[in-house]
Amino acid sequence: MVEGTKGPASENNRTPQPFNPGQLNSAKVYDYLLGGKDNREIDRDMADEMLSHAPELKTLAWFTRSFMLKAVEMAAAAGIRQFVDLGSGIPSSPNVHEVARKIEPSARVVYVDYDPVVHAHCDALLAKPRDVTALLGDIRRPDDVIDQLKNHTLIDFNEPVAITLIGVLHYVMDSEHPAEIVAAFRDQLAPGSYLAIGHGSLDSDPEILEVLTGTNDSSAQVAFRSTAQTEAFFAGFELLEPGVVPVQQWLHPDLPETRMVMLGAIGRKP
Ligand SMILES: C[S@@+](CC[C@H](N)C(=O)[O-])C[C@H]1O[C@@H](n2cnc3c(N)ncnc32)[C@H](O)[C@@H]1O
Repeated sequence: MVEGTKGPASENNRTPQPFNPGQLNSAKVYDYLLGGKDNREIDRDMADEMLSHAPELKTLAWFTRSFMLKAVEMAAAAGIRQFVDLGSGIPSSPNVHEVARKIEPSARVVYVDYDPVVHAHCDALLAKPRDVTALLGDIRRPDDVIDQLKNHTLIDFNEPVAITLIGVLHYVMDSEHPAEIVAAFRDQLAPGSYLAIGHGSLDSDPEILEVLTGTNDSSAQVAFRSTAQTEAFFAGFELLEPGVVPVQQWLHPDLPETRMVMLGAIGRKP
């Protein structure tokens, strides 16, 4: 069973240590699935094990990424000019600022990740254009991330902000209170702000959920959740249609289902 509160899960093992080549790393597993080059044997082995049970996982990774970019487009089209990408991952083009700026050229974007190596990549590759920056922050300490965002003059919480949490909250165990983390960010947001979440679903094929237990006690350990649990993260937001559904349904009605199910949802703070 993958529910993250089960099994040994020390926070230390589950926080990326940049100089530990033996530690499975969620950003690098994902980078491999997206066709990137920033991954090691241990990450590729886990991804290949997952792929042997669900070869369509690479496609799902791209569906998930496309869902995030669609959420950014929707927020930008609604006039939002500030974006915070929490758990931004290793840069994968197009990135949030590129998509947002096609619609809103003055968009300001902050990329946040807790992995020092991911952060270094984001800092080097993304934080070049004006009004784009990268911060090192752990969403399990939301007040620290919010303080950093406030100290950084890029984000003005008096104006609407779009927050993306794509493929990130399922790395936060129940014992680490993910709903309180989302609420801490929500309480800072002005009316009209957007929240987009991509979250691994307990409706995924049981065989896949079993394979994922191989990530336990590493930074790739997951706590997949039900649709109702994912919807609960949107307390205080109005859910946009079609609600909490597999990410494919946000993109195109004809896209195939996948054995690993990634739920996507977008909310607007009234
Ligand atoms: C699967 S990747 C997703 C990347 C990106 N959001 C996307 O959808 O393409 C998950 C990312 O979340 C980051 N992450 C996981 N837990 C985190 C935490 N507690 N605080 C900040 N970042 C976290 C990982 O380092 C990794 O880069």
